[in-house]
Amino acid sequence: MTNPYSRRRFLQLGATALAGAGGALLLPGCSDNNNDRGYANCSRNPLPQDAQGRWWLSNNYAPVFEERDEVGLKVRGELPRALNGLYARIGSNMADTDHWFLGHGMFHGVRLQEGRALWYRNRYIHTALREAGTDDLNPSDPVSSFSNVAPIYHGGHLLTMGEVGLPYETDPSDLSTVGVFDYGGALAGSMTAHPKIDPLTGDMLFFGYDFRPPFLMFYRANAAGELVEAKPISLPASVMMHDFAITRRHVIFYDLPVVFNFNMAVAGSNFPFSWDFDHLPRMGVMPRDGGDADIQWFEVGANFVFHTMNAFDNPADPNEVVLHASRIDGPFWVDSNQDLSQPSYLTEYRFNLVSTTVTENRINDIPLDFGQVNRGLWGQPYRYGYGMDFSERSTGPALARPLGIVRHDHQTGNSETVRAGRGVSLEEAIFIADPESGGETDGWLVCYAYNENRCASELLFFDARDFGAAPIARVELPVRVPHGFHGVWVPDAA
Ligand SMILES: [Fe+2]
Repeated sequence: MTNPYSRRRFLQLGATALAGAGGALLLPGCSDNNNDRGYANCSRNPLPQDAQGRWWLSNNYAPVFEERDEVGLKVRGELPRALNGLYARIGSNMADTDHWFLGHGMFHGVRLQEGRALWYRNRYIHTALREAGTDDLNPSDPVSSFSNVAPIYHGGHLLTMGEVGLPYETDPSDLSTVGVFDYGGALAGSMTAHPKIDPLTGDMLFFGYDFRPPFLMFYRANAAGELVEAKPISLPASVMMHDFAITRRHVIFYDLPVVFNFNMAVAGSNFPFSWDFDHLPRMGVMPRDGGDADIQWFEVGANFVFHTMNAFDNPADPNEVVLHASRIDGPFWVDSNQDLSQPSYLTEYRFNLVSTTVTENRINDIPLDFGQVNRGLWGQPYRYGYGMDFSERSTGPALARPLGIVRHDHQTGNSETVRAGRGVSLEEAIFIADPESGGETDGWLVCYAYNENRCASELLFFDARDFGAAPIARVELPVRVPHGFHGVWVPDAA
């Protein structure tokens, strides 16, 4: 058996070497194009490889250990001058863990001001688990969370969620941890990592799932950041519900067959969920002003959904609700829930509230996940959806490397992919709207990318008005940002 100390030590050495290499490559004349010199430099400073072959601890998934403060960042191209604020992304960061989802949350942020990138910082979320130096989640303790899955900014608070447990608040001015956030004691349990903010009301809608009946709670926080609604929702079992959807009049819950597995829990798993062939796959449409008794449940095919792209009430048919989400054909996670290689496809679900029937149709044949839209159109009819193109399949259980960013035009049915370029590994791009204009494509798709040519990461800005073109700006970082989960934009004026 491998000595964990040895492995941790190896990873630390790898991270240190990479950080140094990134700095050295900022020398004049080092091109950001693909070049042999860049690859040669990387081969001298290889990415960490876990001795046990765990993909989430290898290559650019491997953690970094130093909390850095970097200024004087080099920018190639022109950053949008209208963007003043913080771009931050979070992921799982732990030297020795048996699942990608189970690691201490670490934020990686870049502050933008008037066309300049002022700084890069990375900071752990200083959760109770992190401070106690443990990775033992305690589901009965709401402060027990890795807080590593996704951030959101609402009501003046920058929150990170770990899906299980309460959110933590971070100060966007320096990424320091403020502490547990529970709406002044009004929130007692878990909060999903994927709340939705209604752009028309400013309300944030979210849910939390639990291991005890009724297994699900639905919440609404108003624009001022006060928790004003909490409704129990009855489910037949504790399911892993990673995301949901909102429309102007409805919310949609995913009661799908990845279910709490008692035997795994007894065996000591921190992530005891697996496919349950006996669990009926359903999606539930609830009027936003209704409750548990008003939900219409629709039996769907055996599938699982990690991420929603968007949903809306059909303007041409008041009895129809439309959902676009990335659908994994089941069964999924039967033998191992460490396997993230199974593709998902953008799928349209149409729920007829009168006939109580649902149709499911694959929109295209591109393996796609991490769906995004201009968030000014969350819950409303929209034309353009974005996601990561996973056409390059993984040969093992690892999440495949995204080839690029897909844009799907729901009006024409066409999809295009803007590719990352050789040696560049993208991750989820979020759409940041242009504060100075309000068209659907007025904004930028922004993501971190690991660039093998520089042995370091970059923050890329793609202009959504000119989709398909190369990034308009790259912030070259002197460090490696491990591939994480989700990001957020926190505007200064908010
Ligand atoms: Fe997610």
